[in-house]
Formats: sequence, structure tokens, C-alpha cells
Amino acid sequence: MPPVHLVRPEIRAERAYRVPTTIDVEAKVDQNESPYDLPDAIKRAALDAFAETPWNRYPDDRPHRLVRAVEQREGLPAGSVIVGRGSNELAQTLGLCFLDAGTPVVLPSPMFALYASVARMHGARVVDVPAGPDLRHDPDAVLDAAVGADAPLTIVTTPNNPTGQTLAHADLGRLAAGVPGVLVVDEAYHEFLDGPTATDLLKAHDNVLVMRTFSKAFGLAGVRLGVLMGHPDLMAEIEKSRLPFLVGRLGEEVGLAILDRRDLVAERVAELKAERESLEAWFAARDGVEVLPGAANFFLIRTPMDAHDLQRRLAERGVLVRDVTGYPALAPRDGKPGWLRVSVGAPAENAAIRRAFLAVVGETGDE
Ligand SMILES: Cc1ncc(COP(=O)(O)O)c(C=O)c1O
Repeated sequence: MPPVHLVRPEIRAERAYRVPTTIDVEAKVDQNESPYDLPDAIKRAALDAFAETPWNRYPDDRPHRLVRAVEQREGLPAGSVIVGRGSNELAQTLGLCFLDAGTPVVLPSPMFALYASVARMHGARVVDVPAGPDLRHDPDAVLDAAVGADAPLTIVTTPNNPTGQTLAHADLGRLAAGVPGVLVVDEAYHEFLDGPTATDLLKAHDNVLVMRTFSKAFGLAGVRLGVLMGHPDLMAEIEKSRLPFLVGRLGEEVGLAILDRRDLVAERVAELKAERESLEAWFAARDGVEVLPGAANFFLIRTPMDAHDLQRRLAERGVLVRDVTGYPALAPRDGKPGWLRVSVGAPAENAAIRRAFLAVVGETGDE
């Protein structure tokens, strides 16, 4: 028997994160990815630049050119940015920096589940702030919880995953001013919103950290790049807890290439938003289907069918959506089935979603 009993109990209690990575389907709309890969010319240019570098040599300890490019784009002083191996890696880093056994961490729910998992693995005390029936986070309740627990860390996500709901910019400002510790604003989907972003708070509030990712609107989930922004003194401390060389030369080249193509990103975001609206409207027009419209590249649906059953039937037809009933607020309640999350695909994928849904409904006679 291998000594698994020696593994820390906090880790043993976790379930490993597993998402099936089937991509050979008609519509892969279960991970909030962009349906659009980078154009070949951009991929080639990044690969050529990578090929010219020495592969036998370590990359920079951190991707300095990409870090500078992000700082410049965001108008932030030097030292304000860490580029990580996806924002998942940066979430783990935050845990290492701020969470001891018993440290209170305020996490409104439902929210991207990784944060709670990181907190649990550090033995931290998760202070849950459940959303109301509209599935929106209540900023006053988050603030009260943070003050009440004297929490060193409060994390909010806007637009939030899995609900697609947002927090108003003024409320983010109130949270920044009112929480007793650090406020992390995860803006993984901010490109889908118009208006101010949480980076605007960085000037006035040195306790704010803003998290971003290259995995969503930029369409680079497979490359693994995430960004954390904050006051240089705080970032210098956070940097100490990170392993060197996490971002390799290829990731840096690809990241630089996409930052140069804001036009392409904007064009694709506009198309995805238009597709989202038409898909939401299509579902809302179906008998018995409830839609919770989202502000990012996904939305929620609830139908008379059991969510897990519907997910399985759609998958049999090559359409992968996400059953989100594992989040208590999205589970079956008050006699109603739970919710499914649908990311927006390219037009052909969205047509496949509609076809598959009608076929399932026709088969079960639910509409
Ligand atoms: C809110 C939120 N933050 C972070 C991530 C993870 O992003 P990354 O691919 O940069 O690790 C996701 C991915 O689904 C997300 O929804």
C-alpha cells in the first residue's frame, strides 16, 4: 500500500479536476472557450519567432517582454503585472500568499469553483456569501461578510462564471474601499463588457488585484496565459511565491502576437455577443425553457428536463454543454430541474445546438 495516508488531509478530501477534452464534436460549448483559433499566419509568425530562440536555454525567469506589453496596454507602472501559466496558476499563487489554516476568505457563490478548492487545500475558512434568487451577488452582503470575518482575502468575479452576471463598477469601488484586506476581481470575461474595468480601481486602491486570462476572448486556452495586476509593492511579494520559468518562450511569443491584434479580438467578441443574444432569444422562445442571459460568452438554461439527462442526450448528438447543477444554487430546487451552461460557439456550432435541442425535445415530447 503506497503511503497515501501521508498526503495532507485537505488534499485527500479534494476531487481531482477533470473535464473530458473531446474536441471532435459538432459543438463544443462546455468550457467557455472561444470557438475561434488564431489565424494560421499569426500562428506561423509566433512559431517562427519561437524557432529562432535557443531551446536548450532557459527562458527569462518570467516573460519580461510580455509583462511590459501588458503593463503598457493597461497604462500601469512597471512591476504591476505578473503573467502566469493561466489564471488558474495565479489563483493557486494567491492561496500560497494569503491563506493559512483557518484564514477567512470571502467567496460569494456560485462562483468559479477553483477558488474554493484552492482555499480548502490551504485549510482556509471559506466564508460563503450565497447569491439571491436572481443569482446575482449582493455587494452589501459581500462587504458585510468581509468586514465581519476581518478577511485578508475577498474574491469576486465579473462577469461571473457560471452565471454570467456582473457587479456594477460603483459596487466594485465600494468593495475596494470597504474590505479589510485584499480584493481580487477576476475579470476573465471583461472583453465582453463595455465600460470601465477593475483596472481603473488600481490607482486609488492599493489593496486591489485584477485577474485576467488569455483563454477566453483572446482564444488561447490551449496556450495557458493569465495575468494578475496590482500595486507593484504587493506584486513584488506575490512574485516571490511563484516558481520561475512557468511561462516558456512559445507562450510569450503567442501572447505578444495576440496583443498586437486587438482588431481581431474586437471583431470576434462582437460576433460572439450577437450570436449569444440570438441563441438566448431562441431558447427563451421555446416552451418551458428559462434563460438566464449572460454578459460574457455563455448563458444558463433551465428546461423541464433533468439537467444531467439533457446534457447526456445533447452529447449523444455531438453537442457538449455543461451541467452546472454541482453548484448548490444551480441544482434542482423548488420542484424545478437544475441549470445547464451553454457557451456561445461559431454560427455552425450554434445551429448544431439548436438542431440537437429540437431533436432531444422531439424525442422526449417535452415541448
Ligand atoms: C472566472 C474564471 N477565472 C479563471 C478561469 C481560468 O482561466 P485560465 O484558463 O486562465 O486558467 C476561468 C475559466 O473558466 C474562469 O471562468
